[in-house]
Amino acid sequence: MVSCVNLNVTRDKNHILHDLTLEIQRGVIMGLLGPSGSGKTTLMRSIAGLQVIESGQIRVLDLVAGSKALRHKIAYSTQSASVYSDLTCIENIRYFASLYDHNEKTPEQILEDVDLSNNAKQMAESLSGGERARLALATTLVGAPELLILDEPTVGLDPVLRVQLWRLFNKLAEQGKTLLVSSHVMEEAENCHDLILLRNGRVLAQGTPSALRARTGKSRMDDVFINLIEEA
Ligand SMILES: Nc1ncnc2c1ncn2[C@@H]1O[C@H](COP(=O)(O)OP(=O)(O)OP(=O)(O)O)[C@@H](O)[C@H]1O
Ligand SMILES: [Mg+2]
Repeated sequence: MVSCVNLNVTRDKNHILHDLTLEIQRGVIMGLLGPSGSGKTTLMRSIAGLQVIESGQIRVLDLVAGSKALRHKIAYSTQSASVYSDLTCIENIRYFASLYDHNEKTPEQILEDVDLSNNAKQMAESLSGGERARLALATTLVGAPELLILDEPTVGLDPVLRVQLWRLFNKLAEQGKTLLVSSHVMEEAENCHDLILLRNGRVLAQGTPSALRARTGKSRMDDVFINLIEEA
């Protein structure tokens, strides 16, 4: 689905991403983990085609990242959830859906997907934090996206809501979507099929949670990460 080769990104003269080479297979949930400032958002912006890159190549579905043909195939939810507070849930989805020529799902189906059918007529401003996060996710499901790029979608949510959202991500992956999900909470790595661990703009490791556990001999993802840092 995505391949990056020797990607370098500089922002305001800061060298942020250093020679990143990575691959994301179709239909998987790829976790992008790393401490604050490690470059997760910058990498996501690059894959979404929103970031000027210094050098290297990024291809999505065999097209250069940022190609016009990819606009309908990639959905990107930024780190700060953006929904219209003065619209109801269903109005939010209808509005975003109206921007696309083709929608694979109806707004009602999308709200059903994120378990917000009962909140359809509620104003977004009165939603709880978890409901708001699910509405933000719902806005990425309009059109017919193949790749969902979700920047810290579970930040600030309690453990129960987090589990709910991860179930949803799994459901979307089962429907054939590819998800790139960032987090700095290492335990969330457990929910991913594959992982990229970033540190200081470099790939520290890539692999399945079980492969990384086997490589380090640690069971908790926090310890896996620390072990990989020490190894590096
Ligand atoms: N416009 C910019 N100009 C200069 N430096 C920037 C710019 N945007 C980001 N950076 C720097 O790039 C580095 C990576 O930022 P990025 O937002 O990609 O990190 P992140 O992993 O998403 O962090 P967080 O977990 O806090 O969201 C940080 O050190 C940040 O200060
Ligand atoms: Mg970020």
